[in-house]
Amino acid sequence: MLGSPPVELDGLLAREKAKGDAGEVIGSPQPGDGPLERVLAVGIGDGTPAALRKAGAGVARRSKSAASLAVDLRQAGLDAAGVRAFTEAALLASYGFTRKEKPEPRALQTITLVVSDAKRLQPAVDRAIAVARATAAARDLVNTPSLDKTPDWLADAATTLLKGLTVKVRDEKALAKEGFGGIVAVGQGSTRPPRLIEASYEPPGGSKGGKPHVVLVGKGITFDTGGLSLKPNEGMLAMKTDMGGGAAVLGTLRAVADMKLPIKVTALVAAAENMPSGSAQRPGDVIRQYGGTTVEVLNTDAEGRLVLADAIAYADRDLKADVIIDIATLTGAMPVALGKKTAGMFCSDDALAAQLSAAADASGERAWRLPLVEDYRVAMDSPIADLRNIGDPRKKLGGGSITAALFLREFAGGRSWAHLDIAGTGRSDADDDEVTKGGTGYGVRLLTAWLEALCASPKRKAA
Ligand code: BES
Ligand code: MN
Ligand code: ZN
Repeated sequence: MLGSPPVELDGLLAREKAKGDAGEVIGSPQPGDGPLERVLAVGIGDGTPAALRKAGAGVARRSKSAASLAVDLRQAGLDAAGVRAFTEAALLASYGFTRKEKPEPRALQTITLVVSDAKRLQPAVDRAIAVARATAAARDLVNTPSLDKTPDWLADAATTLLKGLTVKVRDEKALAKEGFGGIVAVGQGSTRPPRLIEASYEPPGGSKGGKPHVVLVGKGITFDTGGLSLKPNEGMLAMKTDMGGGAAVLGTLRAVADMKLPIKVTALVAAAENMPSGSAQRPGDVIRQYGGTTVEVLNTDAEGRLVLADAIAYADRDLKADVIIDIATLTGAMPVALGKKTAGMFCSDDALAAQLSAAADASGERAWRLPLVEDYRVAMDSPIADLRNIGDPRKKLGGGSITAALFLREFAGGRSWAHLDIAGTGRSDADDDEVTKGGTGYGVRLLTAWLEALCASPKRKAA
């Protein structure tokens, strides 16, 4: 069907002054009564994965109202990484979420790739599908309004998403009994109690070649009002996104399992709703984190680090993780520093940081390493507890994303640890290449790419 050019392409491209820029799409109705309704030509720029993501997203968006799309990739000479990037982006750009009573029907049902070497490229396409599915699942979790999205709902959704894997959910009673004082304190202001979701994947036949046990920790605040340190309405509007890190680790685990990667991965989601009420924690309270560290809570809106601290300490003490990576919509300062398309990365281990930077570049989810400035650590000293949860605002110390990271580091027990602050990247204000408006699912692609790379090179152990 696609054997001969369906329209005179050269003429069309010249008429439209096509430049071939990545993502540029030129369309023409199919003349005559051929089988195709419309023919599109898409620019692939310099042919790098980044350019192919723009191309995949561009062509998928332009085809939204068609029932099916066939893409002839034979001229483009793509390798597996290129096909993966193109496919992943086309699928990701086709994502939609609606709660409209009468939504417009979603037209695009199938995308067919026409290649000359299907057998060789099939694994890349399979991985693209796994990652796009997992990202869509993460976006669904983020986009679900908090009216429905309670910590318990999130635990159920995780169990459904991760069918076939081991999922253990601790309820508020178990959390109190076992000493998860941060999750309990943040959750106690809500009528909808907190949960700790623990999901794990073990490869069929066990993990091979001395691969590290990786623990991914996600912030799962299902709504962040700030608690008694109440946010203004403006600041609260998008706070259903505050479980974006949790969604990312759940999505990543789904992708890892679908790809059957030979590595053991555990996902922890510390889920709570941060509400003000008569039972809420107060500024000035001192809480006891998992493992015993005491924290003076001077601002109840710095709640993410409190729930994460419990989960990180648990990953260290009980799971004895080889590598801990947490991901969280943690600080409003993050998008101020890096904008909305680059996450902040903090890392205690240079080798791990280099791996994560490489995975960020390869996957299209940008991250930039920021320093754990040792001199700023004193900002988190408390006169009455082991730590305080914010620096003294009167001192105008700045560096809020750094001090938050330094706080979390205290709980990692000196293990290889990284922290991704996705306060900016977790949500997008607009459709933008492969990202769609609303929850982005940021982290699924980056973390999956990192785990894939760990599995691909037998000697490259996380330090
Ligand atoms: N969830 C917010 C951070 C956030 C802000 C994410 C904007 C996405 C967009 C976090 O819990 C928070 O409130 N952080 C405070 C910390 C402060 C009180 C030290 C912040 O950044 O203002
Ligand atoms: Mn907050
Ligand atoms: Zn928050």
